Amino acid sequence: MAAPAPEAVGTSLVEVRLVVNGDTERLRIDPRVTLLDALRERLALTGSKKGCDRGQCGACTVHVDGRRVLSCLTLAVATAGRQVTTVEGLADGDRLHPMQQAFIDCDAFQCGFCTSGQIMSAVALVEEGHIHSDDEIRENMSGNICRCGAYDNIVAAVRTARRDGADR
Ligand code: FES
Ligand code: FES
Repeated sequence: MAAPAPEAVGTSLVEVRLVVNGDTERLRIDPRVTLLDALRERLALTGSKKGCDRGQCGACTVHVDGRRVLSCLTLAVATAGRQVTTVEGLADGDRLHPMQQAFIDCDAFQCGFCTSGQIMSAVALVEEGHIHSDDEIRENMSGNICRCGAYDNIVAAVRTARRDGADR
């Protein structure tokens, strides 16, 4: 007997309005699409990186309504109408965000793959006030993995950016 034909599943698209870095984007997407894939594949915002795609490395960290989230574990439809900020949205024109500048000044990246997620976490961490000691910085950055081991310089960058007004 012939095997039953597979049922078509997940073929219905939904329309979603995303607000990314202040711009409104309307997309027709499968409701299962993650925010990370919507950003990278549909909006060409490739600053957010796909490291593990399972919530373990932090490379995909973005802000939603000012709070850090793992975009690989967040459905794009769940962020409809909310303020999404990616690393591309941090700079003010040609002027880098103090955290971006501090990462450069402190040589806080090597290959750079984890860097945008590290910076997005670091900006949120300063705004959350978790910067009173190096241990506190390390604890609150612990969801962001750097394969190159640039951790000491990342801590130095967060410290420097805090001093230089990253909580603007
Ligand atoms: S890609 Fe999202 S946590 Fe690794
Ligand atoms: S700089 Fe390479 S993974 Fe962090």
